[in-house]
Amino acid sequence: MSEINQSDKELVSGKKGIFSLPGFPLVIGCIGKNLITVAAISMVSFDNPPLIMMGIVPKRYSFELIKKIKDYSINIPTTDLLEAVQYCGKVSGRDVKDKFEIAGLTPVKASKISSYLIKECPVNLECKVVHTLDLGGSHTWFVGEVVAAHITKDYSRSKAIMFWPGEYRYVGDVIEK
Ligand SMILES: Cc1cc2nc3c(=O)[nH]c(=O)nc-3n(C[C@H](O)[C@H](O)[C@H](O)COP(=O)(O)O)c2cc1C
Repeated sequence: MSEINQSDKELVSGKKGIFSLPGFPLVIGCIGKNLITVAAISMVSFDNPPLIMMGIVPKRYSFELIKKIKDYSINIPTTDLLEAVQYCGKVSGRDVKDKFEIAGLTPVKASKISSYLIKECPVNLECKVVHTLDLGGSHTWFVGEVVAAHITKDYSRSKAIMFWPGEYRYVGDVIEK
């Protein structure tokens, strides 16, 4: 047992601890034709198969949809789409018929799933739900196999958006290559 004291640190809640993580990648999920801004997104497996997971709060309209549709697209917005990101992060599909139209985004048919892709986002991942993880707590996790991906030739990750609770940010500087 270490005798080293940590009096320079404050004892805080688990939630505050999690919010100290240096940012979450911010994406727009599309389930069917309903758009939802999502920061709870994580890589599960790079390959064999490539898996990603998206956390959805059960009270969301998107939650009802994903249970039925069983697929979703992940669309990576660039900083110029911030207004659309904020819109899709506050308006529910229960209250508006077509978030695409109001957000000024264009739906594109996917190649392998029934959910739509967002044309204006430089990266679209087509995901089929292969596991649903209800581990308690705030989010249910939908693990998706990435069955197809579309990336514009000039895509740069530095134009993607990071969400730090309370702040939207650019991805940081390269510190070593
Ligand atoms: C920056 C940001 C990040 C968000 N991340 C998530 C998330 O990871 N999971 C989630 O369920 N809701 C998240 N939300 C909230 C939903 O995007 C929002 O409630 C949306 O209106 C739900 O739409 P729906 O009711 O049509 O599903 C986030 C909102 C913002 C602004």
